Amino acid sequence: MMLHVPQAISLEAVKRIRRLIDAASWADGRITAGTQSAQVKNNRQLPEDSPASRDARLIVLDELGKSALFFSAALPKRIYPPLFNRYEGAANSFGNHVDNAVRTFAPTGENVRTDLSATLFLCDPDDYDGGELMVQDTYGAHSVKLPAGDLILYPAASLHRVEPVTRGARIASFFWIQSMIRDVERRRLLFEMDMAILQLRQTQGETEPVVSLVACYHNLMRMWAEL
Ligand code: NI
Repeated sequence: MMLHVPQAISLEAVKRIRRLIDAASWADGRITAGTQSAQVKNNRQLPEDSPASRDARLIVLDELGKSALFFSAALPKRIYPPLFNRYEGAANSFGNHVDNAVRTFAPTGENVRTDLSATLFLCDPDDYDGGELMVQDTYGAHSVKLPAGDLILYPAASLHRVEPVTRGARIASFFWIQSMIRDVERRRLLFEMDMAILQLRQTQGETEPVVSLVACYHNLMRMWAEL
């Protein structure tokens, strides 16, 4: 399942993050790439241990914590501390690859199984040409280019790439999520159920059938959640 989360973080947060990271020094993006992806990765990335990176990822995590849509779709157990990348000039693309199944956050040694990948856009589509995130799933290829502050969630198991940026700079944050619900179909079912309950609540209020559905949702979570 791919899901677009509009305004996953506020524009004010985007500005604060940009002030921090635009002034920082960027490194070769291959610092976090595996063997296969290093062959096709050509971008810039903020070193994970830089002060700008630490401050900026706290803003991202703090803002994501307020997004009910993000929580409902991802049901996060662990979030890999967000990274930041930049595609510009000669370092402007990332060819087809699949993200590593397990990422270890070096400073703490914590492992995150990558059930979901996320890209959070930190600049507007007008700021650059090209740079589409292309995600291949069972329904074909999807091209993604979103406004600043918007986020796309997609299955980490899917083949994906970033098309060459031919003008301007594409600046984004990216990270992975280990979900409490590992199975993608179960996660999708819970998400659809949660969205339907929300709509029913708005139109009917807390009627008895709504309460029963909420109980079903929580009982499915209880049955399936890995904590
Ligand atoms: Ni990737």
